Amino acid sequence: MEWFEKLYTKDYINLCGFASPEQIKIEANFVVDVLGLNSKSKLLDLCCGFGRHAFEISNLVKCQIVGIDLSDDYLTIAREKYSTPNIKYVKGDMRDIRIENHFDAVTNLFTSFGFFEKDEENEKVIQEANKSLKEGGLFILDNENKFNFVLNDVLKKEYYWQKIDDDKYCIIHNKYDIVNEREIFSAKIIEDGKDDIRVGYNIRLYSLPELTSMFKRNGFELVNFWGDFDKSNYSIHSRRLITLSRKIKNL
Ligand SMILES: C[S@@+](CC[C@H](N)C(=O)[O-])C[C@H]1O[C@@H](n2cnc3c(N)ncnc32)[C@H](O)[C@@H]1O
Repeated sequence: MEWFEKLYTKDYINLCGFASPEQIKIEANFVVDVLGLNSKSKLLDLCCGFGRHAFEISNLVKCQIVGIDLSDDYLTIAREKYSTPNIKYVKGDMRDIRIENHFDAVTNLFTSFGFFEKDEENEKVIQEANKSLKEGGLFILDNENKFNFVLNDVLKKEYYWQKIDDDKYCIIHNKYDIVNEREIFSAKIIEDGKDDIRVGYNIRLYSLPELTSMFKRNGFELVNFWGDFDKSNYSIHSRRLITLSRKIKNL
C-alpha cells in the first residue's frame, strides 16, 4: 500500500498541520477572487479531502463544485459535515479524473501534488487537470515552498513532539531528500505507551521553473504565482508556492 492510501484516514486527521477555520476562509476568498467564480461556474476541487475548502467556497458563491478524493474516511466526513446541494463528493484518483472539457476551474490545495514516485506520474495529474477543463479554464496549484520547508521545518525543527488527541502523541521527523528533491515527513505514533505505528508522507517538491515547464508541456500557460494566500510575493521564506495557470490548448 502506498503512503497516501494509509495516511489520510480519520485516525490521523489532526496530524498533518491542518489549518484553522479562519485560514480556510482566507484561502476560500483567495480562490473565489483569483478564479473569478460566479454562480454559473463549475469548479473541480481535486484532492478535496473532507471538503473544508469546497464548503467554504460554496458559502461565498453557490457555484457547482465537484470534490474528488481517494480517501473513503475523508469523503464520509465531507458528505456528513461539509455538504450542500451544489457540492458533489466523488471517490477518484487524481491521475484518472474521467471528466473531460467540463470545468471552468480546478484547484489542488494544501500540498496535494507530487505524491508519486515518478515525475511522469505527477505530471499525469497536470494532464488530467488539462483534460477536465474547458479551454481558457484556470488551475490553482498550492504547494509547500521547498526552501521554506528546509529552512524552517528541517533546520529548525527536525524532530518534535505533537499531540494528536487526548491519548495519542507522536514524534515527528522532517527530512529533505536533496537527491530526489523530496520532503519526507514521518510520525511515530505513541498510543497506550506503545509506539508501533509509523505513518508519513514523501512528496516531490517542484521548483517554480519545473512547474512552469510542466504546465507548458501540458497545454497550460503560467498566469501568476504567489508565496501565500494573502497574495504576498514568492520568496525563499514564503510558506507556500501557489501558481495560477490557464489552459490554452487541448492535449
Ligand atoms: C494534504 S491532503 C489535502 C486535502 C484538502 N485539499 C485539504 O486542504 O483539506 C491530501 C489529500 O489528497 C488525497 N489523495 C491522496 N492521494 C490521492 C490520489 N491518488 N487521488 C486523489 N486524492 C488523493 C488524500 O486523501 C487527501 O485528502
